[in-house]
Amino acid sequence: MSKIIAVTSGKGGTGKSTVCAGLGYTLAKQGHRTLLIELDFGLRCLDIMFGVEDSIKYDLGDVLNGRQDVLKAVAQVPMASNLNILCAPKTLTSVSAEQIVEICRSVKKYFEYIIIDTGAGINSHVFDIVEQANLILVVSTPDPVCIRDASLMSDEFYNRGNKSQRLIINKISKKFIGEALIANLDEIIDKVGVQLIGVIPDDFKMTIATGKGTPIPTDSSALKAFDAISKRLGGEFVPLTVKTS
Ligand SMILES: Nc1ncnc2c1ncn2[C@@H]1O[C@H](COP(=O)(O)OP(=O)(O)O)[C@@H](O)[C@H]1O
Ligand SMILES: [Mg+2]
Repeated sequence: MSKIIAVTSGKGGTGKSTVCAGLGYTLAKQGHRTLLIELDFGLRCLDIMFGVEDSIKYDLGDVLNGRQDVLKAVAQVPMASNLNILCAPKTLTSVSAEQIVEICRSVKKYFEYIIIDTGAGINSHVFDIVEQANLILVVSTPDPVCIRDASLMSDEFYNRGNKSQRLIINKISKKFIGEALIANLDEIIDKVGVQLIGVIPDDFKMTIATGKGTPIPTDSSALKAFDAISKRLGGEFVPLTVKTS
């Protein structure tokens, strides 16, 4: 049985797609068969992030319209053989929560993790889809607007009865977090009101790798953070270390 994880945030640009790419990559490198499903209709990016822009033949739109089976529409990522991606359609396509649930149901025996990038804009469809996940990862940066939006979003999930949420604080840098590092991280966690699963540094090496579609370098601090979160997802205890530059 695969674990379905929805990656979401209140605000755009917080790093949802980067988190999906980083977790997908590290889970796959740890030996877990992983599928990333991109729900960012019209704004696909996972193909670029994994350097497969020119080789994507099918996308989620083909599956939703019944033109292709899910397993044939997914693309295997050359840089991580356990990782497959199902890219968002290039145009707006209507989707229901039931359709996404059905897609996950039909492939869950093939993947240990199915990670859903909920994309920009929160509408009721996204809430319905996210509610079907086993775990919701709420992504926030240290930006106060982002923190407030993450908190509102998380409250809505709680109100709908979904308590299985964890917080990822992304783009941590000395610029945002000064001397009182831990106190400020605590402040973010308190304000969002969700238990922390990991902290990702603002790492230019990650931006370059996802922008060029090249593997994340092994000395990337963001890669180390993603590796730790991926292990925590599997129940492993990995102490929290925060490296900022
Ligand atoms: N930890 C990080 N370190 C450096 N750059 C990051 C990090 N996370 C995200 N970014 C950059 O921030 C921008 C927005 O990230 P993205 O993942 O596309 O956000 P979203 O999917 O939430 O809109 C991208 O340019 C991405 O490379
Ligand atoms: Mg995105």
